[in-house]
Formats: sequence, C-alpha cells, structure tokens
Amino acid sequence: MNCLVTGAAGFIGSHLCEELLNNGHRVVGIDAFTDNYDPAIKRHNLAGFASHPGFRLLESDLTFADCWQSVGAVDWLFHLAARPGVRTSWGDDFSVYCEHNILATQRLLEACLELQPQKIIFASSSSVYGNARRLPVKETSPVRPISPYGATKLAGEHLCRIYWTNHHLPICMLRYFTVYGPRQRPDMAFSRWIKALLDDEPIRLFGDGRQMRDFTFVSDAVRATILAAERGAPGDIYNIAGGAHVSVGDVLSLLAETTGRTPQVHREARQKGDARNTWADTSSARQALGFVPQVTLKEGLKAQFEAAVFHSSSKR
Ligand SMILES: NC(=O)c1ccc[n+]([C@@H]2O[C@H](COP(=O)([O-])OP(=O)(O)OC[C@H]3O[C@@H](n4cnc5c(N)ncnc54)[C@H](O)[C@@H]3O)[C@@H](O)[C@H]2O)c1
Repeated sequence: MNCLVTGAAGFIGSHLCEELLNNGHRVVGIDAFTDNYDPAIKRHNLAGFASHPGFRLLESDLTFADCWQSVGAVDWLFHLAARPGVRTSWGDDFSVYCEHNILATQRLLEACLELQPQKIIFASSSSVYGNARRLPVKETSPVRPISPYGATKLAGEHLCRIYWTNHHLPICMLRYFTVYGPRQRPDMAFSRWIKALLDDEPIRLFGDGRQMRDFTFVSDAVRATILAAERGAPGDIYNIAGGAHVSVGDVLSLLAETTGRTPQVHREARQKGDARNTWADTSSARQALGFVPQVTLKEGLKAQFEAAVFHSSSKR
C-alpha cells in the first residue's frame, strides 16, 4: 500500500511508519516539527527508518496545505498530526490547538477529495469522553470533553464525520487511551517519571494517585491503527486501549518493582482538564478489527524504561 502518515516524526507516528515499512508498505511521512517539545527529539524518532528506501519525508505544515502536489498516490492515510496534551491547552495556546487539531484536519480532508484514499484513519482521543458517568465507556457513551484539547479532538471527529456523510470519504476514527512506550512524548507521565528516576530526582505526581487510566502500549496502538486501515468500517469510531486499567499510584509501585528503584514522590494538585478515570470498552475494536492488546503494563513499562536507559547512556 502507498501510505501517508501525518505526524510521522511524533511518538505514535514514528512507530506507525516503522511498522508499515516492516510490513512492506511504502510510506510518505509529513511532519512540521512543531515545538510542543524539542524538535531534535522528533528528528531522533525518525532515525531508525529515515533512510529506508520505502520512506520519504515531507517537512510541511498541514495548516498551509502546500504539500499535496508532492505526495503522490495514497491508499491509506493516517492522520496523527496534532497538538497533543491536555494541561497546556488552556489560555493563549488554545489558538495553536485550534490550528493544528481543527484547521489542519479540515485542510487535510479537503485535500482527500482529490487524493481519494481507500481509507483514512483519524487519531482521536479518550479525552473526548471527559469525566464519564459510566465506566467502561463505549463509543456510544456521551462525549463531554473537560479540556480545551478534548474539545479540539472532538471537533476533528465531527469534521471527519461531516466529510464522510457528505463526500463519502472512507474515514475511521480511533479513540486512543493513554499510549506509552519507547519514544513517549517527554511531557507524558511515564516519560517524566522515568527521567526523574534516572536523574535521581523526585517524581511529580498530580492528584491523589487514585485516578485510574487505561494504558495502551504503543505497539498495540499501532497494530490497531493498521487493522483499522485494513478492516475498519467507514464512519465508525473505535476505542483503542490496552486493557491495563490501573491507578496511577499502582503504576508507580509497578515502576519501582520493574526498575528496582524506589521513587521519591512529590504530590501536586490535580491539573485542570485531567479526567478522573478512563476505562475503555474495546469490544467494538475486538469484533470489527480483531484487535486484542498483547503487551501487559509490566512488559510495556520495562520496555520503556530500558529504552530510556539505553538512550541516556548513548548520549553520555
Ligand atoms: N500519546 C497519547 O497517549 C495519545 C492519546 C490519545 C490521542 N493521541 C493522538 O495521537 C496523535 C499522536 O500523538 P503523539 O503522542 O504521537 O504526539 P506527538 O506530538 O509526539 O506527535 C504529533 C506530531 O504531529 C506533528 N504536527 C503537529 N501539527 C502539525 C501540522 N500542522 N502539520 C504537520 N505536522 C504537525 C508534530 O510535529 C508531531 O511530530 C495525536 O493526534 C494525538 O492527539 C495521542
């Protein structure tokens, strides 16, 4: 397949490109190397496959829509480019979220009217649910984001549905639940905690530690994403989660057990926009896509920790 991956240099996008190339597909990656974190980290994310003969990188910002002539034929389009992160979506930065999550998505959908991919996959988020009253959440549960970020991801979903119903663009939407693993964004909890452990610094824990999350190892998220391209029904939404539904405090204990290091914990107030609990019903993804997560939280944490140790020792 000819694949187009937006957000190719990001955490999940870089793993997706790698897996598509491993499966023998051709990949064009688009990334604007935005500054939500150090762009040098994003360049490093590409290092393992940048020179693969099946890969081509277009450094371009989707909001300017100036790259479509160079893309070529597209069979599967994976739209992962976005400004992620709940906590920084308040205040002045909200305009950046609107640009990268809403405007960029609309521009991409317009381009798809010409490109005519066989399947488009939109990376949405569990944050569209907000503080769900009933857990686990199904795709039919009410969507009531509690952060500006969640509102922009929901707007992206609405745009996808609008282009599906009006223009028959074959789009599936995936609601990822907290993805972790090697190359996780530096602003995300596991990355921050592992860095603190390695630097012998206290771990900053927001809230009381009893908030529950449904954690998804990145290879499981990537497999679900490719399955959605192969088998997903256009117009449908799927929850994608790892099934490891545990409290954040329990993750800290597991991290201590896995790494043999006891963290000092510095508790801070719960951050505005953070959902109290997330927990996905993934029966739709299992039935329609054949998606069953394979990596346990313990295995996944170990893999992320070992990758961070390797990275920090190779920098020295
Ligand atoms: N990581 C998670 O736990 C998680 C959970 C739910 C949803 N998501 C969604 O998955 C996707 C990927 O998230 P991630 O954690 O890999 O984030 P990331 O920040 O690592 O990757 C996003 C990439 O998109 C690029 N980008 C942003 N705006 C762009 C634009 N206008 N044009 C071109 N490139 C642009 C960035 O430079 C970055 O490399 C996002 O859509 C995010 O909302 C992630």
